[in-house]
Amino acid sequence: MDARLRFDFSGFSASRVGEEGLMPKEVSAFEKRALAELDRLAEERRGGLHPYLDLPYQERSVAEVLDVAERVRGRFRNFVLLGIGGSALGNRMLHTALRGPHWNLAPPPGHPRLFVLDNVDPVHVGEILDLCDPGETFYNVVSKSGGTAETLAQFLLVRDLLEKKVGPRYGEHLLVTTDPESGPLREIAKREGYATLPVPPGVGGRFSVFSPVGLLSAAATGIDVRACLRGASAMDARCRAEDLAGNAALLHATLHFLLLTARRKTIFVSYLYSERLRDLGEWTRQLIGESVGKPAAGGFAGATPVVSIGVTDQHSQQQLYVEGPNDKAFTVIQVERFPRDLPIPARWSDLAEAEYLGGKTFARLFEAERAGAEFALIEARRPTCRITFPEVSPEAIGEYVHFMEVSVVLLCRYLGVDPFNQPGVESSKDATRALLGRKGTEKRRAEIEARAKSDAGWRI
Ligand code: PA5
Repeated sequence: MDARLRFDFSGFSASRVGEEGLMPKEVSAFEKRALAELDRLAEERRGGLHPYLDLPYQERSVAEVLDVAERVRGRFRNFVLLGIGGSALGNRMLHTALRGPHWNLAPPPGHPRLFVLDNVDPVHVGEILDLCDPGETFYNVVSKSGGTAETLAQFLLVRDLLEKKVGPRYGEHLLVTTDPESGPLREIAKREGYATLPVPPGVGGRFSVFSPVGLLSAAATGIDVRACLRGASAMDARCRAEDLAGNAALLHATLHFLLLTARRKTIFVSYLYSERLRDLGEWTRQLIGESVGKPAAGGFAGATPVVSIGVTDQHSQQQLYVEGPNDKAFTVIQVERFPRDLPIPARWSDLAEAEYLGGKTFARLFEAERAGAEFALIEARRPTCRITFPEVSPEAIGEYVHFMEVSVVLLCRYLGVDPFNQPGVESSKDATRALLGRKGTEKRRAEIEARAKSDAGWRI
C-alpha cells in the first residue's frame, strides 16, 4: 500500500456536485497561471526567499535540537512552552498527533510532560504553573520577534518563580528560542546568559514548526523529528512537479482559489476524522487565516477556516453543512490505519438498531461514519475533497505540513496578498501595548480611548 498521503479532489468537480463544483475547462484555463506561480516560487526559493521550505534539510540545527532534548529528557519532569500563535500551535499539533492528548497523565519513564501555554488567561497559566514544580521543570521561551506581550509576561512570571524557588542556578531551567540577532528576548538572553536556539532568519511564526521552535518540545517527548522532516522532504519533491494534475499542493490551491472566487465558497472546513489530528486542524486554521485574510486589489481577500472533528461534529455541525448555506469547501481528512481497534460485541440480535453493530469494530464504524458524512455532503452538492493519511505517523505529519504550507502560499499568490505578514495581528499587539502604557504609545492610547467614547451606546 502507498505509504504517502493521498489526495482525492474529485468531489470538487461539477460531475460530482453539479454547478456548485468546477468544470474541467475552468481548471485547465487556469493551468498556465498556476504553473507560472509555481515557477515563481521555485525561482524565489533559489534566491533565498522561502527559507521555511528548506527547514527539512537543516541537519546541524536538528542535531543541536536533539542534543538539548536529550539533556532535558534525562533531567526534567515537565517541559513548559511559553509562547503564543505560531510559536505554540505547531508544538501542540505535533504533540497531540504523535504523543496523544492524554500523554501527561502517564508519560513513559524518563520523558517529560508537556504543557503549551498559548494564552495569558490567568486561570489557565496559574493552573499549569501550579502543576509543575519549578525544580523539576524546563521552560522554553519561544518568540520570533522577542517582543510579544503575552510571551514576555509569561516569561517575567516564570523567571521570578524560578529565581525564588530554584535559586542562583535557575537559568539552567530556561532556554530561549528567538531571532538569532535582534529583539528584546535575544537581548535579555545575552544579558542574563541563558541558553538559546535560533529561529532561522526569514522564517515566520506559522511557518516555523520544523525549526527549533517546534522541534525541541517534540524531540524532548521522544517524537522522531527526523522522520517528520523525512516526510516533509518527500512532499517537497512532490510539490515541485510542474504538472497541475500531478502536484497536490498546486491543485489544492488552484481548486480552492476557483471555488472561492468563482463559486463563493468563502468558508474552508477541515473535517478531521481523528482525535489525534484535532490540533492539526488548529494549526491549519492559523496558517490559512493569518496568511490569506488581507486587503487585496479591489477589496478584501480571504476565506474563513473552520475546524470540525468527525464524528463529533456530525452531531453538531453536519446539519448546517448539509442543509445550510452552500458557502463552504470541505476537506475531509481520513486516517486509514489506527494503531489499535476495539471490537463491538454482538448482543440483542432481535433489535435491528443494535444487531447490525455486533461483530463490527470501532475503526469500521468510524470509517463508515466518515464515508456516510462525506456522501451526504456530496449528495447535497457541497464541494468536498479528501486527504488520506495511511496512518498518523511522523512522516505523514511532515508531509501534510509541507503540503499545506506550499498550498497556502500559492493561494495567497493567486489572491495577490503577502502570505508572510500579519499587519492585523500587529495592530492588536500595538493596541495592547498602548493600553498597558508602553512608553512612546501615548498617542495611540489617546486614539483608542477617544474611539471608545464615540460610539452609539447600546450598552445595557
Ligand atoms: O504566525 C505568526 O507570525 C504569529 O502567529 C506569531 O507566531 C505570534 O504572533 C507570536 O509571535 P512571536 O513568535 O514573535 O512571539
